[in-house]
Amino acid sequence: MARATKKSAKGGAKARDAIALLKADHREVMDLFDKFEKAKGGDRKAALAEKICQELMIHTMIEEEIFYPSLRGQAEDDMLDEAHVEHDGAKVLISEILAGGPDDPFYEAKVTVLREEIKHHVKEEEQRGGLFAQAKSADIDLKQLGEQMMRRKQELKSQFESGEMSPPETRTFHGGELSRGKPFDSPQLAA
Ligand SMILES: [Fe+2]
Ligand SMILES: [Fe+2]
Repeated sequence: MARATKKSAKGGAKARDAIALLKADHREVMDLFDKFEKAKGGDRKAALAEKICQELMIHTMIEEEIFYPSLRGQAEDDMLDEAHVEHDGAKVLISEILAGGPDDPFYEAKVTVLREEIKHHVKEEEQRGGLFAQAKSADIDLKQLGEQMMRRKQELKSQFESGEMSPPETRTFHGGELSRGKPFDSPQLAA
């Protein structure tokens, strides 16, 4: 028997429920981090890092705009609050990575630390009792939510492709003062 596959209006991607869509995003970005780690050459690394940042910006936006609000009131507040703060922490690294390049000091370290942060965040979303599990037992139409997120994802992708994407926007960080210095242990940076 042929399995019916629904196509979205744009892009032809298979319709998925919210959890399947978000999990697929997680797998995809972890795979890109693996590729970054193995990549040789600055151009390849820069292209992969940019792709990682783009995927994460879109993923965090669809979660923040659509998924997390649908869970508020039905999932643990602490868990949702922490997820928001973790996203904002990642956005700081994302904007650093996008502003730099493979020849910059600490570039690789920034991508590696972003990977570790995302790995932790994904585990918290997907683990037993995590946000995804809570979403499954909540009174939410995950299929409809998946369709909504897929549409928003396509829209954001086209904004990226046409160069109209704004920088990542933090939602829980409100600009506490920071001054910028240099590490004391990097003589090449001291000049
Ligand atoms: Fe996620
Ligand atoms: Fe998330």
